[in-house]
Amino acid sequence: MDGNWASSLITRPAFTSTEMRSTKHIAVLLSGRGSNLQSLLDASHADLLGGAISLVVANRPGAGGLEIAQSAGIETALIDHTAYVSREAFDLDLAATIETISPDLVVLAGFMRILTTDFVARFENRLMNIHPSLLPMYPGLNTHQRALDNGDTHAGATVHYVSGELDGGPPVLQAKVPIGADDTAKTLAARVLKVEHQIYPEAVNWHLTDKLSFKDGVLCKDDQPVPLRGCLWN
Ligand code: GRF
Repeated sequence: MDGNWASSLITRPAFTSTEMRSTKHIAVLLSGRGSNLQSLLDASHADLLGGAISLVVANRPGAGGLEIAQSAGIETALIDHTAYVSREAFDLDLAATIETISPDLVVLAGFMRILTTDFVARFENRLMNIHPSLLPMYPGLNTHQRALDNGDTHAGATVHYVSGELDGGPPVLQAKVPIGADDTAKTLAARVLKVEHQIYPEAVNWHLTDKLSFKDGVLCKDDQPVPLRGCLWN
C-alpha cells in the first residue's frame, strides 16, 4: 500500500448486523469549504434526508468541510491525494475507506478530483454529484463566467448520477436562476449556491427513499422517465 493511511482519522468498524442497516448511510466526499455538506446535514437533522451522513472524506488537509463534519460528530477521514503515486492507488484507498460504512449513497460535494472508471463502476447508480451549471452546458470549471460570456439569460445547478465522463451521467434535478445585467461570476455563484443547497438534499432524499430507479438504463422518478436535463426544480 502506498497510500497515506497515517493521516486517515477513520475509526468506525464495518457494519456487522442487519439491525444497523435500518438507517440509510451516506458518505460525503469533498475538497473544500463544505457548504453543501452543511445543507445536507441541516436536512438530515430536520429528518428530511432519508438517511444519515455517516462518513465525510476529504482529499485536502485544509478542507473546511472536515471541521463541519467533526463539529457535527461525524466520522471523518483525510486521504491526501498528494501522497499517492497514481490516481488508481488513491481511488483504491478511497473506495476501501468508503466501504467501511457500506454506503447506500456516495455524495460528491465539491470533490475536486476526477475519479477512475473502476471507482465509478464500483459505486454505479449510488454515486451523485452537484455541478454549478445547467448541464449539459459547461461541464468543468469556471461555469459562471462561461455563462456570462455566452450571454445566457439563466444559470443554475444540476444534481446528477456520476458516469465515467467529466460532470456526466444522468441528471436528476436541475434548478435555474436568472442572470441579471449587473451579475459578475461572484454574484452569480452566490445565487446558484443558494439553489444548490435546496436541490442536493432533495435529490439525496429521492435516492434514499427509493423514488429513483433505473429501468432498462433509463433514470426514472416514481417510475416515470426523468427528463434529459433532470426534473426541474420549482
Ligand atoms: C459547489 O459549487 C458545487 O456545485 C461544486 O463545488 C462547489 C462546492 O462548494 N461541485 P461547497 O464546498 O459545498 O461550499
